[in-house]
Amino acid sequence: MKLSAKGKQWLRSLKLSLRFVVPLVIALVILAYLTVPLVDKLTLRWFLRDLDIRSQFITLALQEPLVELVKKGNKAKINALFTRSMQDERLLALGYCDEEKNMCYRTQSFPQGLSCKLPTHPSGHEKRSLLVLPQGPVHVTFNPVAYEGVRAGTLILVHDMSFVERRSADTRKYIIVLFSLLLVVTSLITVFVAHLSWRGWMEGVRAMLRGEGIVRPFSRPARSEELQPLLGDLHALFRMRDEERRLEDDTTISWTPDTLRSLLQNQLSGDQILVVSNREPHIHVKTERGIEVKHPASGLVTAIEPVMRACSGTWIAHGSGTADRDVVDRDDHVSIPSGDSDYTLRRIWLTAEEEDGYYYGFSNEGIWPLCHIAHVRPVFRTRDWEYYVAVNQRFADAVADEAQSDDPVVLVQDYHFALLPGMIRKRLPRATVIFFWHIPWPNPESFGICPWREELLQGMLGSTIIGFHTRLHCKNFLETVDRYLETRIEHESSTIFHSNMLTLVENYPISIQWPPPWQTTQPPVKECNTEIRQSLNLGEKALVGLGVDRLDYTKGILERLRAVERLLEMHPEMIGTFTFIQIAAPSRSALEDYQSLETRVRSLVDQINRRFAVEAYCPICLKVKNHEPEEVNRYYRAADVCMVTSLHDGMNLVAKEYVASRDDERGVLILSQFTGAANELHEALIVNPYHIEQTAEALFQALTMPDFEQRERMRSMRARVRDFNVYRWAGRMLIDAARIRQREKLSVRIGHRV
Ligand code: F6P
Repeated sequence: MKLSAKGKQWLRSLKLSLRFVVPLVIALVILAYLTVPLVDKLTLRWFLRDLDIRSQFITLALQEPLVELVKKGNKAKINALFTRSMQDERLLALGYCDEEKNMCYRTQSFPQGLSCKLPTHPSGHEKRSLLVLPQGPVHVTFNPVAYEGVRAGTLILVHDMSFVERRSADTRKYIIVLFSLLLVVTSLITVFVAHLSWRGWMEGVRAMLRGEGIVRPFSRPARSEELQPLLGDLHALFRMRDEERRLEDDTTISWTPDTLRSLLQNQLSGDQILVVSNREPHIHVKTERGIEVKHPASGLVTAIEPVMRACSGTWIAHGSGTADRDVVDRDDHVSIPSGDSDYTLRRIWLTAEEEDGYYYGFSNEGIWPLCHIAHVRPVFRTRDWEYYVAVNQRFADAVADEAQSDDPVVLVQDYHFALLPGMIRKRLPRATVIFFWHIPWPNPESFGICPWREELLQGMLGSTIIGFHTRLHCKNFLETVDRYLETRIEHESSTIFHSNMLTLVENYPISIQWPPPWQTTQPPVKECNTEIRQSLNLGEKALVGLGVDRLDYTKGILERLRAVERLLEMHPEMIGTFTFIQIAAPSRSALEDYQSLETRVRSLVDQINRRFAVEAYCPICLKVKNHEPEEVNRYYRAADVCMVTSLHDGMNLVAKEYVASRDDERGVLILSQFTGAANELHEALIVNPYHIEQTAEALFQALTMPDFEQRERMRSMRARVRDFNVYRWAGRMLIDAARIRQREKLSVRIGHRV
């Protein structure tokens, strides 16, 4: 029979209390054993005294009429007097002896063999004797009778003693019942108190595990046999915590794919990792040269791919390439080679309507503008919402399909899947779901615009951990949950308690792989310089600025172009010398806001180029095309300055990629204060992209910055990106996940979910 958690807890309390109850039973039995004869002795003494008094009383009452009748020798009246006195059922017989010890009168019931001579008794009592006759035990008293002060004879009273035996047996019975009752009540109280103390102790342990308080050192009972496995778990947990602290605090540790792999092995015992994202890391497309693999312009993919290569596992994503279906097996799997061990890509196929409603509609016309302060209004339609729900459900089903155990670690990525954690939790209640939100989280008022805000929040709270890039986004999220849902929020531990589960909300600033890819295969910076300049017909000494973005209105591309224009106005010496290259990957082009952005960017570039063109010189070179990451890397290495002017950005990995690519420690980064990266890359020139002159001045400062200053700034930023690389990002989340998994296992053991 399977016991419920509560039942198990009671069983444990019972076991614990048996240790007290068994000695208690033994003590009470011994006590009862000693008490019964003592009580027997006492009751006998009470009864004897009682009979003595009764005998005296009867004697006193009889002596006067008796002596009168004896004197008259009236035998009939004496017999009548004796018969009257025998009304008391306990008085068995009466006899009268004269002074010469002759039995003169006696009742018929007077025992044979009993004479006027007082039998000697071991107690030495002069007037009383206890005898055992064939009819049972009797109490015999010899009481002198006198008349007017002269002794006349002796009255012998014989009392039946069998009632004493009956009463003693009754008393014994009552004592045993009383002791048994005492035993039961004490045992129950002991079990109850043990249960309460156990619960109290366990609450203490849980509080300590939650980091809420300090638990007293283990007292003796805690070392008892029953608690040994629990102590083992606790010790394991403490060891793990020490290890975590070591890893967290030691910024000098170099986080590599190996560190991540061993973390997975040691702290997650090699558990399966599943990643879910909308965008796939490898897109198979049909070209004239056959099927080719393309890599999307996606910060998310840039970050997750190296983690996946280190951890293997399965990545579930939308199959959006024209040749995607041609390369999968019958389970829609394609193996992605990655050096040591491959990982699997599981593709999900979406219809045009699904893509329209879930991806373009709800995700990118609704949530995207809702979460970014870029002054584009969100649009919410019921039909889009319905597709969003349906597609989330399809991905949840795929997760359940791919899971090889009931408790996989699932890394859910981004705003396309706010409902997914809740849906996974329904299918796989024991899964560890880490949900990472790659874009900013707005304040509660802004988020409140969404007609399905409660549903989205509830879906997200199916996660074990919800990650954001910055503390501010975590704070906004907690405030939003507080505003719209009934939950208990612990701000100190940054946790939300809801529907009997706990969700940790933490900031994990995302990053890129280190060492950067192609470090050993890319040509030296000088060569990249020459190659890029030649390809654009620029002179060797030309100053080059670079922007790399998806064509998205949040990236501040128009503001950046205006800053370039202002630079040329304010510093005309830069005309003919400075060229700005804007790499713009087409993105979400089916949407009107994106189409209109492209039109506006193209027209602004034309306008600036027309204004400042001198012979073959064009200040801005716009490349609207998806570039492969390796190619972008060569641009990074060639650029004197990289401009990241997002109006609002969760992190922005272009900034980190630029820094990572500059192993020559040259180049300047201009970085918007509205990016998550600005919290980390302090040595960049931080700007407000809305302030055109300020950004233009920063651009001028960058182009004229002395070499030594460039080196100092770049060196410091590179150290930061090296130490806080993407393996550390994933590692910190997995450490937290491992800790929570361990706690949950422990909670199940002690019969309570934390
Ligand atoms: O980083 C935010 C993000 O929306 C990612 O989720 C996405 O992969 C990337 O930008 C590119 O967007 P999309 O996948 O819509 O092309």
